[in-house]
Amino acid sequence: MPNPRYLAPFHPKQTPHFFTDVLVIGGGLAGLRATNAIDPKQSVLVVTKDVLTQSNSQYAQGGIAGVLSADDRFEDHIEDTLIAGGALCDQAVVDRVVREAPRRIMELIQWGAQFDKNDADQFALGREGGHRQNRILHALGDATGREIMRAVVQWTRNLPNVQIWERAFTVDLLSHQDVCSGALVWSESHGKTMVWAKQTILCTGGAGQLYRETTNPVVATADGQAIAYRAGAELRDMEFMQFHPTVLYIAGSSRSLITEALRGEGAWLVDQRGYRFMADYDARLELAPRDIVSQAIVSQMEKTRHPNVYLDLSHLQADHVRQRFPGINATCAKFGIDITRDKIPVRPGAHYMIGGVTVDSEGRTSVEGLWAAGEVTSSGLHGANRLASNSLLEGLVYGAHAGAGASAAAAKIQEDFVVKPLANPPQEQPDEVLDVGDIRNSLQSLMWRLAGVRRSADGLAEAAESIDRWRRYVGPRQFNDPAGWELQNMLLVAKIVVSAAAQRQESRGVHMRTDVPATDDAHWRRRILFQRKDGLPLGGEHPAPTEGIDSV
Ligand code: SIN
Repeated sequence: MPNPRYLAPFHPKQTPHFFTDVLVIGGGLAGLRATNAIDPKQSVLVVTKDVLTQSNSQYAQGGIAGVLSADDRFEDHIEDTLIAGGALCDQAVVDRVVREAPRRIMELIQWGAQFDKNDADQFALGREGGHRQNRILHALGDATGREIMRAVVQWTRNLPNVQIWERAFTVDLLSHQDVCSGALVWSESHGKTMVWAKQTILCTGGAGQLYRETTNPVVATADGQAIAYRAGAELRDMEFMQFHPTVLYIAGSSRSLITEALRGEGAWLVDQRGYRFMADYDARLELAPRDIVSQAIVSQMEKTRHPNVYLDLSHLQADHVRQRFPGINATCAKFGIDITRDKIPVRPGAHYMIGGVTVDSEGRTSVEGLWAAGEVTSSGLHGANRLASNSLLEGLVYGAHAGAGASAAAAKIQEDFVVKPLANPPQEQPDEVLDVGDIRNSLQSLMWRLAGVRRSADGLAEAAESIDRWRRYVGPRQFNDPAGWELQNMLLVAKIVVSAAAQRQESRGVHMRTDVPATDDAHWRRRILFQRKDGLPLGGEHPAPTEGIDSV
């Protein structure tokens, strides 16, 4: 049975309606930057499925990249991004984002974000993998996302034209005759609401929860990619899930990110015997791009038959380490690890979804009335491997453009809101209760094992078979709350990730196929696109074939 267009039943006569000029779905950095670009004369509704402080933006540690010192050059930041990206970046996009970075960062400072400075009152710029220069602005030592979001949330809450609904889950986009007209939003206090918007901006973030090992918070369940796909939007680059090399690996601890900035300050990667191994893999040692470091760590774990490697900071000045990384110091101390003396156990984990909803340079998707920004998108900035600390930057730049574009498009729509004839009838449900949590855990383990840091045709085929089986009985259900909808979204997006990874028969950037380890530019220097089979026609500028998962 094909999976349905809408996850939940609704009828316009039985569902409350809400009208807004612009609807922003997602309250991370991209969503709030978009909100701030909308004309103050227009009404804006921001919906977020948890509270505004629960997003990948909030948890960013390392910082935000930008050319801010006299020693640095736009050309170098551009080239570093292109080198890391495995020949799949869109050069015009890279050029624009890098050149816009200083302006967007200055806006954050105007809104109250305070970045760390050195004794000479200059920005204290850090270094991360793949950057040839110190160009990473950071805050509170290792809690850059927390400080940026504090400032931007406070600024946004004061905008009189903006309403914010927290704990409001977007079940699906409402679309009529291939035009997005808003969304069906659910909250525990109000139930379902049909939110009608002249323009909608999707900024729902990432998909790390598809994997058992991840740096992402529990909210990162690929909802945006799934709802956009069901509404007919094009997705691309979905095989490129970035694995961060250093995620804390202690039984009982959350899988916290251990920022790459540690290696930027001189931390070594050593194996269980204390051997500093990166020289065996790359001349840039610990500061090689992430894809290379993650693969090197997995190889070293295999060689030493040990479940992790270690970060060693014991040769660095202890006071400086404590002051530069207060958050990591505190997290590790809870488990009896003194980061100035003891080695920190780490291994890779899913960190950042490079692929997503295709957007043009202004943040337009392939569905009319729908814009998108941030991690939910594929803008072409990151290619096959994102350069460290370019993601908050992308959220800022594309958030600003998508917000401005949606605002201008909404202003052109003069007629009053029309409630479109949309409904989804309730379906009879099977009696037996599904253990949604059990399937979610099984999916996360499956993805980690078979579609993780290393993949192969056989493993991906096995993963696809299990996902298809689960989708057969989970997909058509009509759940009443977010746990079920999240699972349906995760299964759909997992299926797309696995299909894309199986299709790309080469290794490139973060996508490592053990059965085809070489990069094959002749066949695969191109993107893989996905669109629902009954979706909109494609623009035609992409050379790759389109895959559809559901034929409804
Ligand atoms: C980190 O702090 O290592 C993460 C930064 C990023 O993902 O760009």
